[in-house]
Amino acid sequence: MASKLNIIILAAGLGKRMHSSLPKVLHTLAGKPLLSHVLDLAKKLSPDQICVVIGHGGERVKEIINDASLTWVTQAPQLGTGHAVLQAQPYLDQQGLTLILYGDVPLVGLASLEQLIQSTQNDACGILTAVVDDPTGYGRIIRDQNTGSIKGIVEQKDADTSQQSIREINTGIMAIPNEYLHSWLPKLENNNAQQEYYLTDIVKMAVDQNVIVASSQALHNWEILGVNSRLQLAELERIYQLSYANKLLEKGVMLFDPSRIDIRGELRCGADVEIDVNCIFEGTVILGDHVKIKANCILKDVTVSDKTTILPFSHIENAKIGTNCRIGPYSRIRPETQLIDNVHIGNFVEVKKSRIASGSKVNHLSYIGDTTIGENVNIGAGTITCNYDGAYKHQTIIEDNVFIGSDTQLVAPVKISVGSTIGAGSTITKDTPENELTLSRSKQISVSGWKRPSKT
Ligand code: UD1
Ligand code: CA
Repeated sequence: MASKLNIIILAAGLGKRMHSSLPKVLHTLAGKPLLSHVLDLAKKLSPDQICVVIGHGGERVKEIINDASLTWVTQAPQLGTGHAVLQAQPYLDQQGLTLILYGDVPLVGLASLEQLIQSTQNDACGILTAVVDDPTGYGRIIRDQNTGSIKGIVEQKDADTSQQSIREINTGIMAIPNEYLHSWLPKLENNNAQQEYYLTDIVKMAVDQNVIVASSQALHNWEILGVNSRLQLAELERIYQLSYANKLLEKGVMLFDPSRIDIRGELRCGADVEIDVNCIFEGTVILGDHVKIKANCILKDVTVSDKTTILPFSHIENAKIGTNCRIGPYSRIRPETQLIDNVHIGNFVEVKKSRIASGSKVNHLSYIGDTTIGENVNIGAGTITCNYDGAYKHQTIIEDNVFIGSDTQLVAPVKISVGSTIGAGSTITKDTPENELTLSRSKQISVSGWKRPSKT
């Protein structure tokens, strides 16, 4: 049997500098709580269990994350990182390894953690360190001048001037064999500048016991950045987005400007996809081959098939769009909409909970809701499906080869039968016969000799 892996995520801190009533780890990066980023990463390591240490706003954190697979541990009051891990100790296996992560360090990569875990082979303790330009605020890594091996970690507030000049810092992320954790955690003391129980003091204990303290570095230095303020959160968001954008470019997606795209979820692209600036993708968006998304579009949980173009300023949510369609500019496609192939949706058209079959067009200024439209239908400008009677929603059915004249109201429930033509300006309240012209307007008359009123 493979050895046990336990993960502890520290998330009890207050996050005072966020100036927010929301617990820090619930603030979102790329549309997802910071803690969820860490949890998703942790799960990729298939651990035997994940303990999350919560404190400030803990109940809210539990409720929002809502994940029954987690072990929640409350730390109150918060007396330091060592004290936080101590609260989780009863849940740790006797053997195996514990990986310690921070709930407010969301960008750590899987490869960096795997490397850290590797470094603990032969019963070593593994610490993820980084060499940074400005080490202020971090714990410094103290190494033996001759052997280079790690002797301890000194916190900023406890460091003397020469220690403060050390640029190798403790990221806080470490992997410690459980056997040692069980023996060392209860021995931690708080006789330091902050009167906190420092987890980092276990390094001294390791050295005293001749346990090797191995270090490894993250693949990118930004992986270890934490969020303490909204400024840092905004910076991390840009780092995340640029890194996602660069991955897309490497896979062959044409982003007109990788610094002007936001992906809050997952974006999967086929071959030769082009995305113009300022588009936002949320949830899961899947784009087929040769899809073009023009500037300023927002797509959430959408599938777009090959060769379809979405023109500027379109907003599409929870919809499935077929091949070779043309949507926008300024189209709004609302949830539960399905457009089959070669469909055109034009400017200022709203479509909700409707299915539009191949070759049909709704090109201008229309509302289509709770409607089924057949093939090769042309919906004239300003057509409205009146789907709501003030209490209930009703269906409109428009069969194949229908032509609806402009400025028509279709009062649901109603069926426009195959081949029907509706005269412009009609209000249709009854089902129409197949292949006939139906219209509902009074005859045009001219009143001869009529004069406009005028002031005398
Ligand atoms: C800690 C490390 C320091 C390291 C730095 C990296 C210690 C003693 N120091 O600093 O060496 O360079 O992280 O950012 O470990 N937390 C709790 N309960 C507590 C205290 C903290 O859950 O009682 C959580 C916080 O929510 C946060 C993380 O632990 O996610 C780190 O706490 P923070 O106060 O930011 O770090 P320091 O203790 O200053
Ligand atoms: Ca602290």
